[in-house]
Amino acid sequence: MDASNEPPANRYEALYRDFDSTLMRRIRREAYGEDIGQHSWVGADELRRDTGHLGLTHSSRLLDLGCGPCGPLTFVIASVGCSGTGVELSAAALRLGRARAASLGVEARFTLREADLDAPLPLEPRQFDAAMSLDVTR
Ligand SMILES: C[S@@+](CC[C@H](N)C(=O)[O-])C[C@H]1O[C@@H](n2cnc3c(N)ncnc32)[C@H](O)[C@@H]1O
Repeated sequence: MDASNEPPANRYEALYRDFDSTLMRRIRREAYGEDIGQHSWVGADELRRDTGHLGLTHSSRLLDLGCGPCGPLTFVIASVGCSGTGVELSAAALRLGRARAASLGVEARFTLREADLDAPLPLEPRQFDAAMSLDVTR
């Protein structure tokens, strides 16, 4: 079956299975210069610049919609020292995200919600200071 025919939650399962393999890390290093675990076209410098515009501080709470394996989200949490919440449909991505947060030592400031962005979000209003959503398409 073509991946585009898969239900959204399963669409990236095959890719996420090997996402942190030596080969995939090497491909990301060669493609982006700096491997931050992104599954999008965002580079580390671009993310530093754009999150700089958000004025994030240690006390900020960042929301990442469609966080995937949480590379950009955990990168921002680790670099800024803020808190972050990721919302994502794929269970495989969430497993990778938890492992990445633990490997960076940011799990205390990191929260994940398994949810479909096409449905009402399971989040309380006004609990975030900034939001990002990188390359999230159907
Ligand atoms: C191309 S990846 C980008 C991941 C991440 N933003 C990054 O930059 O590395 C897109 C992600 O959006 C998720 N996604 C797509 N549609 C979604 C939906 N309706 N609800 C929740 N997540 C969704 C996919 O499962 C996938 O992990």
